Amino acid sequence: DSFCVVLPAAGIGKRMSQTVPKQYLKINGKCIIEHTIERLLSHPQIGQVIVTLAEHDSIFSTLVISDNSNVIAVLGGKERSDSVLAGLKAVPEQTWILVHDAARPCLTHEDIDALISFCLHNDSGAILATPVRDTMKRSQANQQIKQTEIRDNLWHAQTPQMFKHQQLTSSLERALAEGVEITDEASAMEFASIDSFIVNGREDNIKITRPSDLNLAAYILTQQKEEACV
Ligand code: CTP
Ligand code: MG
Repeated sequence: DSFCVVLPAAGIGKRMSQTVPKQYLKINGKCIIEHTIERLLSHPQIGQVIVTLAEHDSIFSTLVISDNSNVIAVLGGKERSDSVLAGLKAVPEQTWILVHDAARPCLTHEDIDALISFCLHNDSGAILATPVRDTMKRSQANQQIKQTEIRDNLWHAQTPQMFKHQQLTSSLERALAEGVEITDEASAMEFASIDSFIVNGREDNIKITRPSDLNLAAYILTQQKEEACV
């Protein structure tokens, strides 16, 4: 089987506070988005990546990877969920679809394997996530502590997230039409009451969000090459 990945990359990277969007910052000599696409396309079960770009993106087309015939660029949208929907509509014939953040370059083949095999064996959508490890506090708006949350069954959601294309598209469309806030693909499925599951992922599949994440990602990418898990 060959699967297609929608790669939202239309964000501005506000929290990164740099002049270019974070997906174009370099780590170990290559842009973050190049690392991400290479990790995806080098996996034997992934055949195509649909990249969703911001309207005035002038950088992506200058990257060597943009000439790869398995990479298709489409116009993204205002919110991440709009970008994902635009990507889904570019490949309507797919049965399954994976969605992965451009800003997660440290994704391993081992995690992609685990997610795809879970979904195929269970005929159900799923996401990668890691268990919460710190003690979780709920506070009031003034940060006065109210209580400790029970940590069991609490997870940090990651990407990729894999769903049936038709189910994800219709759930996203309905949620957006109703103005429901959708922060990841699984939240669209929750909105539509369609079951989906968690597959344990690696903790080093970090999303590059703040400046300090750059050095961490450089370290992780190097370690993973030594570990040969990519
Ligand atoms: N994204 C997108 N379209 C948007 C907003 C975000 O395709 N309208 C993408 C980003 O490019 C990123 C992924 O969604 O690859 C995850 O979003 P996030 O980490 O929040 O990236 P940014 O929105 O760029 O960063 P920030 O929130 O700090 O501005
Ligand atoms: Mg954002």
